[in-house]
Amino acid sequence: MKLTRTKGLHGTISIPGDKSISHRSVMFGAIADGTTTIRNFLMGADCLATIDCFRSMGINIEVTDEMVTVHGKGLHGLTKPDKILDVGNSGTTTRLISGILAGQDFDVTLSGDASLNSRPMKRIMTPLNAMGADITSINNNGCAPLLIRGSKIKAFHYDSPVASAQVKSAVLLAGLYGDGPTSVTEPAVSRNHTELMLRSFGADVQCEGKTATIYPPKKLTGQDIVVPGDISSAAYFIVAGLITPDSEITMKHVGINPTRDGLIKVCEAMGADITLSNVNDSGGEPTADITVRTSNLHGTEIGGEIIPTLIDEIPVIALLACFAEGETVIKNAEELKVKESNRIDLMVNNLKRMGADAVATDDGMIIHGGKTLTGISLNCKYDHRIAMTFSIAGINADGEMDIEDAECVDVSYPDFYETLEKLQN
Ligand code: S3P
Repeated sequence: MKLTRTKGLHGTISIPGDKSISHRSVMFGAIADGTTTIRNFLMGADCLATIDCFRSMGINIEVTDEMVTVHGKGLHGLTKPDKILDVGNSGTTTRLISGILAGQDFDVTLSGDASLNSRPMKRIMTPLNAMGADITSINNNGCAPLLIRGSKIKAFHYDSPVASAQVKSAVLLAGLYGDGPTSVTEPAVSRNHTELMLRSFGADVQCEGKTATIYPPKKLTGQDIVVPGDISSAAYFIVAGLITPDSEITMKHVGINPTRDGLIKVCEAMGADITLSNVNDSGGEPTADITVRTSNLHGTEIGGEIIPTLIDEIPVIALLACFAEGETVIKNAEELKVKESNRIDLMVNNLKRMGADAVATDDGMIIHGGKTLTGISLNCKYDHRIAMTFSIAGINADGEMDIEDAECVDVSYPDFYETLEKLQN
């Protein structure tokens, strides 16, 4: 994909469904009684991997242009797949499904692509095995492929060392099969979509401060779900609208759950012209239309408890910082090193190649804004968020930006380039 400098992004766009919520809607629908319908489901490669995994375990899932329909078989209705479950590039599929599979009465092997199979899985193996599960890393390196032998699950309390919704969700989902309540305490609150959605499916889930507790339900009940637009996908157009001269963009029906809205707070702290309207609710998930206009921005400091609420947006926030006056410091974000790529290194190295003043630190980065960027040729290591961030950089740079593996945007935003083009016309 080749990109050059653009002036004036204008228009109103809808944003594809939230990736985290789409995954969960299929997973919980599969182990619920009755039918779950899902509108605005994200048809990205990651969520399609989740659908394939549950189809392989005997769940009938219909997909039409309008909606996804999951014919649930109840908490004990999954059947042993006759092949390895292919989780593709998706960490969410891997970690959440492991929690569900821990409590089944069959064995499963799951494996993904090269990036997925190099990401840390000990973080879920440790608590799940402590609950009575039997999960091993086949290559004994703490990564997938994983062999999961279904087991009896015991009630458990986990003090998680990381603020990770994937770890929290894996433990809570295994807790569905526990012999008593299971709780997780995190160092900072991560996204709470699992807690909200399990509750709407009828489970008793209590949240107090940094602790979430699940009481094993007799059953879950299928629901009709409308997935809000993904704020992590809107993020590219929020930043594009703020840094591209002469722009105004409105994004409709975007999820603004307070465990996900850190980007909005950072934009406000940097002086951005960003407004929320039509604030609403979609099955317990708050939503709004978001409008951004080209803004004069200044640097800020980002760290501590806000980090989990914007963890996937840090690459594009780093780009935003290049267009802000003064210094932006991002700290406490070491988790970025174990995402689809090492996002600290990939961002800082390539922003520097474009001419930015950026320095990597142990747990984040420091950026001084105001340098003119120049296009480069870039391999994103198949990391969708890196590709989209540098595409927005490319339309605000001199020369030509060439994203070699741009097709990786399919992971979370298949229509990304069509939407960008629409805003340019
Ligand atoms: C996700 C949680 C986050 C996030 C990922 C989706 C989820 O990961 O980065 O894109 O749906 O639970 P961690 O839980 O590893 O922080």
